[in-house]
Amino acid sequence: MSVHVDFTTEHFEKAGLKVFGAFEKMDKDGNKKAVLSWSDKDLATAFGFIKDNGDFTGGAGTTFTFTGTDCTTVLVIGLGNKTKLKAEGLRKAVAKAYRAIAAKKFKTVTLDVASFNCLGNITNATVVINEAINLTAYNFDKYKSVKVKTSFKHICLFVNDKKAKKGVEKALAANDNITASMNYARDLMNDAPNVLHSEEYSKRVQKDVKDNLKGVKVKVLGKAELKKEKMGMFLSVNAGSAHAPQLVHLTYTPKKVTKNTKHIALVGKGLTYDTGGYSLKPGASMVTMKYDMGGSSTVYGAFRAAVMNGSPNIITCVLGMTDNAVNEHATVPDAIVTARNGKTVEILNTDAEGRLVLGDCLSYVSDLNPDIIYNAATLTGAVLVALGNQVCAVLGTDKACKSVVDTAKSEDEYAWRLPIIPEWREEMKSPIADLQNIGKTRYAGTATAAAFLENFITEGIEWAHLDIAGIASDQSHLPYCPSKGGSGMMIRTLHNLLTK
Ligand code: BES
Ligand code: ZN
Ligand code: ZN
Repeated sequence: MSVHVDFTTEHFEKAGLKVFGAFEKMDKDGNKKAVLSWSDKDLATAFGFIKDNGDFTGGAGTTFTFTGTDCTTVLVIGLGNKTKLKAEGLRKAVAKAYRAIAAKKFKTVTLDVASFNCLGNITNATVVINEAINLTAYNFDKYKSVKVKTSFKHICLFVNDKKAKKGVEKALAANDNITASMNYARDLMNDAPNVLHSEEYSKRVQKDVKDNLKGVKVKVLGKAELKKEKMGMFLSVNAGSAHAPQLVHLTYTPKKVTKNTKHIALVGKGLTYDTGGYSLKPGASMVTMKYDMGGSSTVYGAFRAAVMNGSPNIITCVLGMTDNAVNEHATVPDAIVTARNGKTVEILNTDAEGRLVLGDCLSYVSDLNPDIIYNAATLTGAVLVALGNQVCAVLGTDKACKSVVDTAKSEDEYAWRLPIIPEWREEMKSPIADLQNIGKTRYAGTATAAAFLENFITEGIEWAHLDIAGIASDQSHLPYCPSKGGSGMMIRTLHNLLTK
């Protein structure tokens, strides 16, 4: 299934199913009534003639179907009050409409963008609709013997404004790169941990870069290279694994570089499976730990889209890949290891492994001297207690956190800053080593984890840590996300930050 955009009525006229939006307005007498701004005036008139419309007044979440004068089926999507409907409301309404369309089994489908335009700008409305459809149509069926296909090959978006053609096409091409990269990241997350282990994950990213990201430099560090880099924390997590650790280091350089070109670094937690190690997770909490590489797929998805969209910035992307498994070589609690930057760490809980992998990766990118570092990780269960499974936690330096929170708002994603206070920095100090990998209490677990990470960022570098443990998967409250599986959330925000 793909989305096509038309600026002529050719496909629109032929389509078996025509989809229109309708807004709801109160008239002078206090009666609710559907308000239409349809490109097809004949069908709008036909709708007006329908006597028994089952009380359809364009209310949000309602739909109405009728047969048009040209014998095509017309599906009307109620959108509610036009002045209240913003981009996210439209995205959600179109996602629900897409599910209704897919259930109808038509071969040819067209949607009139003008009738949905609550944004006052046809280009923006087309982008939001395109985005909603491409994200909602995502389906992970790699392991299904029988693949369920939609009855239609594509949905045509009819834009009844030829003057907008150039702008719409350009904006859609950029948006397609974002949604394709979100769906690529979802695929990575949804794959099985026995298939997508560190070595396979690394190969897959390398192949994707070769196929789709021309000019991006790739460097891969395996076990021997991590030893050379003295990444004692990263290696300690991998000690019990049947698979080699992989640090995938990607570099994108824009065509034009001046002394003012920004260098942005991304770091992602790529735990292909987190059993907890010797501090083994109980059975029920272990299931879903295949998503523990979500930080790395998120930063990779954002990097991928930003490169495809020709970002003006230099971008470094570092993915730290391993699983956290148990065998006779696995790290035991009470072990003391030395981090890449020389700090010693007492490992009191092998399930607090993400910070160990990230810490060494953060020290590695700090040495590249970027202007700003964004890292993403499914780092703590505590973030679910603090912010639920809808909001991303952001911690770090003032400027970096503000830019993430503000950008997330503009992208309709939920992000909220949490503090790092001196007391929590103290809490991460060990009596017998420089640091310990868990706090002394169970309180403020998301922030103490960030206080630990801070030790591996060179002072003076702007840094924001995104704890996405609550939002990386199962976003059932968002109709354009699968209710089970990788979400791709925060890729839009990071892409925006990377392309500014
Ligand atoms: N991968 C988990 C965090 C997680 C929990 C992600 C739930 C998604 C859902 C992480 O490695 C972990 O196990 N963290 C521990 C830290 C604790 C031992 C200090 C946790 O949150 O329980
Ligand atoms: Zn863990
Ligand atoms: Zn983990």
